[in-house]
Amino acid sequence: MKTIRDLDINGKRVLIRVDFNVPLNEQDEITDDLRIRTVLPTIQYALDQGAKVILASHRGRPKGRRVEKYSLAPVVERLAELIGKEVLLAPDCIGSEVRKMVDLWMVGTGCLLLENLRFHPGEEANDPAFSKQLALLADVYINDAFAVSHRAHASVAGVTEHVKEKAAGLLLDKEMSFFHRSVDEPQRPLVAIVGGAKVSGKLEALTNMLNKVDCLLIGGAMANTFLKSQGYSVGASKVEDDLLDNARQLLVDAKKKGVKVYLPVDVIAADRFAADAVCKQVTIQDILENWMALDIGPASVICFSEVLADAKTIIWNGPMGAFEMDAYARGTMALAHTVASAHALSITGGGDSNAAVRQSGEADNISYMSTGGGAFLMLMEGKELPGVQALEA
Ligand code: 3PG
Repeated sequence: MKTIRDLDINGKRVLIRVDFNVPLNEQDEITDDLRIRTVLPTIQYALDQGAKVILASHRGRPKGRRVEKYSLAPVVERLAELIGKEVLLAPDCIGSEVRKMVDLWMVGTGCLLLENLRFHPGEEANDPAFSKQLALLADVYINDAFAVSHRAHASVAGVTEHVKEKAAGLLLDKEMSFFHRSVDEPQRPLVAIVGGAKVSGKLEALTNMLNKVDCLLIGGAMANTFLKSQGYSVGASKVEDDLLDNARQLLVDAKKKGVKVYLPVDVIAADRFAADAVCKQVTIQDILENWMALDIGPASVICFSEVLADAKTIIWNGPMGAFEMDAYARGTMALAHTVASAHALSITGGGDSNAAVRQSGEADNISYMSTGGGAFLMLMEGKELPGVQALEA
């Protein structure tokens, strides 16, 4: 894949698609600026090369209408602080006023940030007219928005058909090469840890990963469906009954492919889904009728850690329990420590897994934390990202 480094961008208008869909608190303060920090190398590179830098992003899901609470205004100050240069927010992302701002913007000043792309219905509809309007702002188009590259939207896909030159930004390139190194050309054993609430959202990823991994560790509420499919009674735990056959089949397929699948052998069960519920550690044979499994137990942590100790590559998506409540965070935190200290290339993806890793204090000890949720999962499903395909076309 061609990257920004392969193009001559000096003096050119460079439109960089970034993903500034950052979480904010009630005071509109950014609570996690990872998505801003991770595109700084591309922005800095473009500035250093003497390009006119125009940034485009979505934020939230305003559904094609101007909704002020989804403005990109809260990003301006943080970005300016990080690049140490001026950042100006344009009133819109297309139109004559914005084109005029781009024309008047002086190279070297800083960055011009376009207002939320999703204020226009053409963005999500991948409308060619909207794509053309965006392309009018650019001599060169750069996609550095890995986290939204699974969406065939105008600023990710359509726009690439109307620009002269296009390439990947440094973050997109890094994301793709880490994923490729860990899943397509891994040092073995490759171990995947998959958790989270639902099997349904991850069935395709699990199915595809069976063709890639040596071992699969399954935790989180999704493990209940697998346990139930094997005849265990999981009490009032969250289960997707309509997927019991799929879960059973997946375990059969894994066996045929020689993939070792590990399910929890014990859990932290609670009498209700609450931080102050009565809870106890039980084996999976002993979950009481009205109780629910909310975390993996200590024996499972030991078992999973044994598997991870041998791993040369680890890919992790989804927490092991309801880690947002302290009472059910131990399993996920323990695995975060194990993954961080493993002699392996470790890569995590998805908002919850990254939040859990940060909560454990191990963020600096993971080889790579992907900025993508849906995009990361799509790669795990073995599919190509529309944003990447558009650059290659
Ligand atoms: C994300 O937060 O995962 C990306 O910014 C994509 O957002 P979306 O799910 O609203 O398309």
